[in-house]
Amino acid sequence: MTNTVEAIHNEMQSLHETGTYKHAPVIDGPMGPTVRLRDGREVVNLCSNNYLGLANDPEVVAGAKAAVDQYGQGTASVRFICGTFSIHEELEAEIAEFFGFQAATTYVSCWCANEALVPTLLSEGDAVVSDSLNHASIIDACRLCGKNVRRVVYQHNDMADLAAKLEDIRDARRKLIITDGVFSMEGDLANLPEIVKLAKKHDALVAVDDSHAHGVLGNTGRGTAEHFGVKVDILTGTLGKALGGAAGGFIAAAKPVIELMTQRSRPQLFSNALPPATAGGALAAIRKLKHTPELVETLRTRVAFFREELQQQGFNVLESPSAIVPVIVGDTAKAIALAKQMLSEGVMITGFGYPVVPEGTARLRAQISATHTREHLQKALGAFESLRKSFA
Ligand SMILES: Cc1ncc(COP(=O)(O)O)c(C=O)c1O
Repeated sequence: MTNTVEAIHNEMQSLHETGTYKHAPVIDGPMGPTVRLRDGREVVNLCSNNYLGLANDPEVVAGAKAAVDQYGQGTASVRFICGTFSIHEELEAEIAEFFGFQAATTYVSCWCANEALVPTLLSEGDAVVSDSLNHASIIDACRLCGKNVRRVVYQHNDMADLAAKLEDIRDARRKLIITDGVFSMEGDLANLPEIVKLAKKHDALVAVDDSHAHGVLGNTGRGTAEHFGVKVDILTGTLGKALGGAAGGFIAAAKPVIELMTQRSRPQLFSNALPPATAGGALAAIRKLKHTPELVETLRTRVAFFREELQQQGFNVLESPSAIVPVIVGDTAKAIALAKQMLSEGVMITGFGYPVVPEGTARLRAQISATHTREHLQKALGAFESLRKSFA
């Protein structure tokens, strides 16, 4: 081993020693309300963002297969060089129409969509104002802006701080407020009504990453803006959670903004388009959501049941209308140990600790799906109950 590789090896060893090395469970079947682990056990799955259960839905899988049959694996090039498939255009038109924007464009992930949006939209003399708990892809997207773009962070959902930060950048040329719609660790929502009001006052654009809200919030699953009855300027989202569960991301906005992205954003200019199978699956997922909005109500019922039962059992559950149900346990090592014990009880759930969440607020994060039956949720609740003493 060279010195550098040895140093990296030692760094990885220290992760083992501190119990922070991440192990991905290996799953031998499709994503669903339960999953089959490689050791043959079928366990209740509380870890997936498969909120509507569309990741292995027959219509969605058929959409993916049909797209592969028609277009094969992919473009084998970037779009502006080699062309784009009509399924990309169809998907983008569907996204724009579904979310109520003039246009949309897609990327291989929402990570790429966020990294495309911020540095492409902003240049010298501009400013971006970002919530302190925004997703890592937004944080990195802001970091990608050049030195001449001011980057300002406001305290999580603190509207007085946002107003103060907007005041600080009042002389900026173009101003962008960017926030998650649903925050992934807390499950809470951005205060969009207030953000939109402040943006109007300060002539700023509002961009919302609604990855955890699509298919979940609003009567028809159109997300946080629908939930609050407001309109935002720019929407980003993933196709890798409720909307198909494979991969892919998008930006939806006014036509000139989308044109700017297709002309200038580096993750599209220098990277291949979404694979046809993924585009076809996502298209089928959005259409399924459009035609069966009752899926959203089913999910809501399941989440309410699970949250209320946990609260009645005396667990410390964070409140929110999203499908993310964090159960606070406090200590990081405890959260990791409890997640292991839950798996022994037949329930897969992730423990998150510091530095992903603030010190002392480590948690087990449950994510509910419309396809969880009462029995699945009862089994999970039973596992919580049987480990009650360890939570104390
Ligand atoms: C809020 C948010 N934005 C973006 C992403 C990244 O999405 P993708 O997997 O499509 O890159 C995630 C995924 O965890 C997310 O939670």
